[in-house]
Amino acid sequence: MARPRTSFVCQNCGAVAPRWQGRCDACGAWNSLVEETPAASARGSGKGRRFALADLGAPTAAPPRIATGINEFDRVIGGGFVPGSVLLLGGEPGIGKSTLLIQVCGALARLGQRIVYISGEEAIDQVRLRAERLNLARERIEFAAETKVEDIVATLHSGPAPALLVIDSIQTMWTETLEAAPGTVTQVRGAAQALIAYAKTTGASVILVGHVTKDGQIAGPRVVEHMVDAVTSFDGEGGRDFRILRALKNRFGPSNEIGVFEMTGGGLVEVGNPSALFLSHQAEARPGTAVLAGMEGTRPLLTEIEALVAPSPLGMPRRAVVGFDPNRLAMVIAVLEARAGLKLGQHDVYLNVAGGLRISEPAADLAAAAALVSSLSGRSLAPHSVFFGEIGLSGAVRPVAHSVTRLKEAAKLGFARAFVPPSTQERREKGPENMALTPCPEVADLVAFIAGPERGRRQ
Ligand code: TYD
Ligand code: MG
Repeated sequence: MARPRTSFVCQNCGAVAPRWQGRCDACGAWNSLVEETPAASARGSGKGRRFALADLGAPTAAPPRIATGINEFDRVIGGGFVPGSVLLLGGEPGIGKSTLLIQVCGALARLGQRIVYISGEEAIDQVRLRAERLNLARERIEFAAETKVEDIVATLHSGPAPALLVIDSIQTMWTETLEAAPGTVTQVRGAAQALIAYAKTTGASVILVGHVTKDGQIAGPRVVEHMVDAVTSFDGEGGRDFRILRALKNRFGPSNEIGVFEMTGGGLVEVGNPSALFLSHQAEARPGTAVLAGMEGTRPLLTEIEALVAPSPLGMPRRAVVGFDPNRLAMVIAVLEARAGLKLGQHDVYLNVAGGLRISEPAADLAAAAALVSSLSGRSLAPHSVFFGEIGLSGAVRPVAHSVTRLKEAAKLGFARAFVPPSTQERREKGPENMALTPCPEVADLVAFIAGPERGRRQ
């Protein structure tokens, strides 16, 4: 009989190579290839089974959802758990994934649902201590410290399917049908497949926890991302206590929502109004700081964008960004140079979004431009001002969605003036009355407002 063919699987990206090599051809990671033997495939007759085809247009009820009552969590997953769905929660070790999930379990248990929590990482006592600390020890959460998927599935099949099954974490799970070592891509994929099959056949919702590496990849479980219904990530800025839950993919809901929590001595606490959290409330505005009236999913969120523009001693000036798309920064700089006559070619440019947020919406262009111009000119922006608008390559400032929601949020937090795309004025009637609008048809107008000689008169 032929020897089963082994292959070498990259633990970073899942690419398969026929022989060992030091560096993965697909993703470039070093020393990431591990030898794995595929499961011997069962040989069938080769004949298929007939199945009935369904009508795609047939009416279907919206999936029922089980809400936890933790609003910041429910919104990110699209309003609650969809029965039979599988969600992957990624995050760095120690960020608070287990804490979040035990709180979610507690909230559901309180609603009378059957909840099962399987920990492959912590002993029973550790999880009990955490539950006690979070005041959840009295809730009916069924718990086990197990890692073998067959045992878990067999145990669960012996009773009614739970509303929620938490697997903490998928990297610790293994299935006996595969020879590979626990934690390898093959095992992670095999274990996930078995748990997904359990969810689909019984209607239980399953959450798989996945650890991510420092560079933000869900290591190993990356191969699981396309198998699950939803992918969320839980992260926070080092040293700060707030945590952001983000939807990265969601087959049953929006994928641009965020939920904000604060880690306290008594577990994670929801932050219902995160705008206040991300603003530093400096009494006097400083050059280089602009406030963006942004949107995260369906919710308005005010954020500070800081820029530092300084003459560069280098031939190739530095451009460094945190929380902002480097390509968008390059574009904003190019437009400022070409359409407003700014000279940034000999300057280092640093751009930072305060509070560890990551901004991807084009509406942030105008705020980034304002921060850059303010830092370059050394003039602080008008106090209590917010900015939003997309900058086009022509230098025109384009309208963005949800302008009224943005203005209302800014007014609520005490801002009095907004620099906006020109057409915002027309939708004014619906907006807050105590907000002064300064339309900026062109990026050059913004530059004139901030750094122009007649600044005093025009504001
Ligand atoms: P944990 O949920 O174990 O993280 P993960 O599962 O992502 O690895 O959280 C670990 C950290 O959270 C730990 O440093 C202690 C802190 N923590 C609190 O600050 N307050 C609490 O109530 C709890 C339970 C944990
Ligand atoms: Mg944990």
